[in-house]
Amino acid sequence: MATVYLDGNFLDDSEAKVSIHDRGFLFGDAVYEVVPVYRGNPFRLARHLDRLRESLAAVAIDCPLGDGEWATIIARLLAEAHGHEYSVYIQVTRGVGVGRDATRTQGLRPTVLVSISPVSIDRTLLASGIRAALLEDIRWHHCRIKATALLGNVLLRREALQRGAAEALLIRDGELTEGSSSNVFAVLDGVLRTAPPDERILRGITREVIIELACACGIDVREQAVSAAQLASVQELFICSSVREVVPVIQIDANAVGDARPGPVTRRIMQEFAALKARFKGDS
Ligand code: PDD
Repeated sequence: MATVYLDGNFLDDSEAKVSIHDRGFLFGDAVYEVVPVYRGNPFRLARHLDRLRESLAAVAIDCPLGDGEWATIIARLLAEAHGHEYSVYIQVTRGVGVGRDATRTQGLRPTVLVSISPVSIDRTLLASGIRAALLEDIRWHHCRIKATALLGNVLLRREALQRGAAEALLIRDGELTEGSSSNVFAVLDGVLRTAPPDERILRGITREVIIELACACGIDVREQAVSAAQLASVQELFICSSVREVVPVIQIDANAVGDARPGPVTRRIMQEFAALKARFKGDS
């Protein structure tokens, strides 16, 4: 049992109920955020809240709370969560509508849910590298919005898992854009490349951190996607997200990436990320 925040109240999750008329449930008319928590403190919270506001603005839902209010709610949920690593989930729907009439949105009050869950994956297992499946992106054209309507992502991830892979790498317009729940970096001709922040990708906060870290240690980074045709020549590839952090990809479908081991640039980024995290936690 865990405490969640729902529309102004702190409740046990078994007590928290959302209406069947909620537009998030009926239409996926909602956005969300995922914030990593290290030693009880949300990492890059201000940036995650910026992105939440951008997602809300993009779908014309008024941001229901200010930064200080979000921070207070999260701090209260995390008050007893010092030991482990958590993710904070914020979900905001357009609110409880009138039956199935999708057009009547006037005067609705957004539904707000904030919950925390311990990180359930073993990141040390992922560190030796994963297999990925290359799939055509079947999602909509506004991937910049962190929408809760994740059916496309879910189907892509399912397809990847069925092929024995841990992530789907997505191709759109003949280019590698992102993963089904991650951003992607590739090393090609000594340059660290990642897709530009257009509507085909979510502007990942981890992606942003990695660009900062790479620049700080003199790695040549370019926001330019690699093409599907260039993938065969890529020396290294990794995915990143708030939940998985930095994960090397050592095989795409039946093809090894480089020599099928995490390469030097990937390892450097993993080290730099671990060092940043240790500093954030106060370990060094
Ligand atoms: N997903 N792209 C997609 C499609 C994602 O779903 C995610 C993260 C990212 C990486 O964003 P960030 O670095 O800000 O986590 C990129 C989260 C973790 C999720 O939905 O669980």
